[in-house]
Amino acid sequence: MTKRIYRIHLLLVMALTTVLSGFSFTAITQAQSAHVSLWYAADPTDPFRTVLQGAVDKFNATHNDLQFDLTAIPGATFSGQFGAALSGGSVPDVFWTNGGNALQTLVNSGIAAEIPQLNDAARGRFAPGAFDSTTFGGKHYAVPVSLAGVFMWYNADLFAAHNIELPTTWSKLIAACQQFTAAGITPVALGNNEKWPGALWLTYLTTRIDGTATFREAVNRAQPGAFTNPAFVQAGRRIQEAVQAHCFEPNFNTTADADARLLLANGKAAMQVQGTWNLGGLKQANQEITQKSIRILPFPVAEGGTGNPKVMVGGTEVAFAISTKAPPNTTAALLELLTSDDFVRSLAENDIIPARLGSIQSIHEPLKQSMANALAEAPALQLYYDQLLPSPLAAVHLDTTQQLFGLMLTPEQAANAMEQARAQQQGQAQAQPQAQPPATPINSNPTQTPIPAPLRQLAQSRNLSIGAAVAVAPLRSDAKYQATLKREFNMLTPENALKIANVHPSRTRYDFSDADAVVNFATANGMQVRGHTLVYGKYLPDWLDKGQFSRDEMLNILHEYIQTIVGRYKGRIAVWDVVNEAVDDNGALRDTVFLRTIGPDYITYAFQWAHEADPQAQLFYNDFGGEDLGQKSNAIYALLQDLIKRGVPINGVGLQMHLSLTKPLNMSDVAANINRLGALGLQVHITELDVETKGSPGSTQDHLQAQATVYREVTAACLHSSACKAIVTWGFTDQFTWLTGDIPLPFDKTYQPKPAYYALEQALMQP
Ligand code: XIL
Repeated sequence: MTKRIYRIHLLLVMALTTVLSGFSFTAITQAQSAHVSLWYAADPTDPFRTVLQGAVDKFNATHNDLQFDLTAIPGATFSGQFGAALSGGSVPDVFWTNGGNALQTLVNSGIAAEIPQLNDAARGRFAPGAFDSTTFGGKHYAVPVSLAGVFMWYNADLFAAHNIELPTTWSKLIAACQQFTAAGITPVALGNNEKWPGALWLTYLTTRIDGTATFREAVNRAQPGAFTNPAFVQAGRRIQEAVQAHCFEPNFNTTADADARLLLANGKAAMQVQGTWNLGGLKQANQEITQKSIRILPFPVAEGGTGNPKVMVGGTEVAFAISTKAPPNTTAALLELLTSDDFVRSLAENDIIPARLGSIQSIHEPLKQSMANALAEAPALQLYYDQLLPSPLAAVHLDTTQQLFGLMLTPEQAANAMEQARAQQQGQAQAQPQAQPPATPINSNPTQTPIPAPLRQLAQSRNLSIGAAVAVAPLRSDAKYQATLKREFNMLTPENALKIANVHPSRTRYDFSDADAVVNFATANGMQVRGHTLVYGKYLPDWLDKGQFSRDEMLNILHEYIQTIVGRYKGRIAVWDVVNEAVDDNGALRDTVFLRTIGPDYITYAFQWAHEADPQAQLFYNDFGGEDLGQKSNAIYALLQDLIKRGVPINGVGLQMHLSLTKPLNMSDVAANINRLGALGLQVHITELDVETKGSPGSTQDHLQAQATVYREVTAACLHSSACKAIVTWGFTDQFTWLTGDIPLPFDKTYQPKPAYYALEQALMQP
């Protein structure tokens, strides 16, 4: 239908053109002409319509053997209409293509013809990257017309006003993010609701990290491992680094691309990674700011990357493929139509970036002109990854990349998800019965690849110790347990190895083997040890708890014990929880064998003896339930105040922080409590952090998110006070937790970081 109307219009135009140019109308013998149908995608206001129309009119008027029949289809409906034509067996003779997987499929099924005329000599007249998205196996399958590419758009005035260096490299980008955040400006606008805007980052980063070969391999290779290339993992890490550096506006993963563009257009965001096509929308939103302040840069260079920084992510905006069923001479006619100097100049004059070289100076719009220059100089154009991949894999790529941005997947998990999707596509799914569905966040895919910015590094830069309680069995036998500990923590607490029942199992016997294992591991890996714990009324060996000792006997036992243990680890255990859980929930001293036998001054004795045994050690009182403000924390505060007043050697207080999603803490009370303890001159350690999820409503995903929030808030509360010097989690992997059946810790059972882990990282990176 459209075609017929169009044909009538065309005849009219032809007649007019012929009359005006003085040609004889009879020179065109309609009956002998071959008709070549040409379909292209263009919205009603697209200037390309006019340009192509003009060229076709001229061509048709001057040729009588072949006539082009144009059909313009709005971009949004093009592939639908094209698909319908395909299934109806009536492929247009010439058709617009994006290249990539869609075109490759048409090539493989014998629908799109090779264009041998595009030999080296012909190609030399085009931008070097103009053929990259439409070349398969060294053969060319489309005539490139115009180019598109992705840039770092930025607001030059905002950079100047805040004296911030332009993001020419990745580290400068991260620095700019931090500086803009501090200045209250969104550093980078990202509308990742559509997923592809974030995917541009992954494509670019991978290209910067190791060039274009990675994609080629991943797209072409059928054998395992194509998608777990380290370049993908590193790209994922950098994405998460940007997220953690607060580069993007809040809720960027659910923001529409059009809304993100408004942030840049209205001076609310300083940068955006977007394509050449972004310009129209920016101008429409704010002509003034766009013209006055918006500039473009190449996507930042990734330090350490080996990709050529002139390579751009992009491709053809318009390219035409030819059907294998097209009339003879179609290719020659099409090349004549699309590569004439006049046609290329008229593209440029309409601010379309020509794929053919030589007309850039005719582009009016300065930004377009500089983009055209960069695209013409790019030695290669890396097509958007989602257009290169077959659509099931493209969907996994878009989903996993969005989840990477949301910190819901680790880079390794995202790479593994892609790899599994590939394997499924290859029909290898059965060979990997343990395979997880592609987009499953967390709890999947163990991997040995280290994580880039380990907690201990981040913590160190904040002058904070970050620790975990360790269980001796996995510490002895589980390589991944050891590796994760070494990588992430600089402080260890033996979860049980230094409890009396373990170290002193009978009145006459000491057993240091477990405690030694922890202390030796810590020393070997540059970690401090929190000695937990000397005097604890729970988990006692029967010989002590039920021994019916007199006060003096008990004092002797305790004295000998403290001397022995603290003396043995003198200089190797930096911090001791000297007394643990001495205060009851009602604020009174807790009923223990020590209180009953010795009286309240067992606390004073314990600190004094510990101090005598190792005067350098930091001595702590440790308890649970006294984290915020209330009866118990008041009682602990009063106890500590009294100890200090009486000159008892005490250096700090441990807030255990065994938390539960069902019993949220008031974090400002926690901060206030930390402050008042600090004001007593005490250090504060968070000593046993874990967050129970049992009993909380919602899905596991909800739990993980809520838990991450708690981890973030606790870390923030600690960082808020200069008194708070350490954060120790009670275990670190859900595989080994005293809260059986729950998932209270920052790593999952396979040692993959959970949202809680990323929350810790985020909080540690928060200025
Ligand atoms: C717990 C350990 O995690 C368990 O493995 C053990 O069975 C009992 O003790 N407060 C403390 C810790 O100070 O010592 C406790 O550790 C948890 C509560």
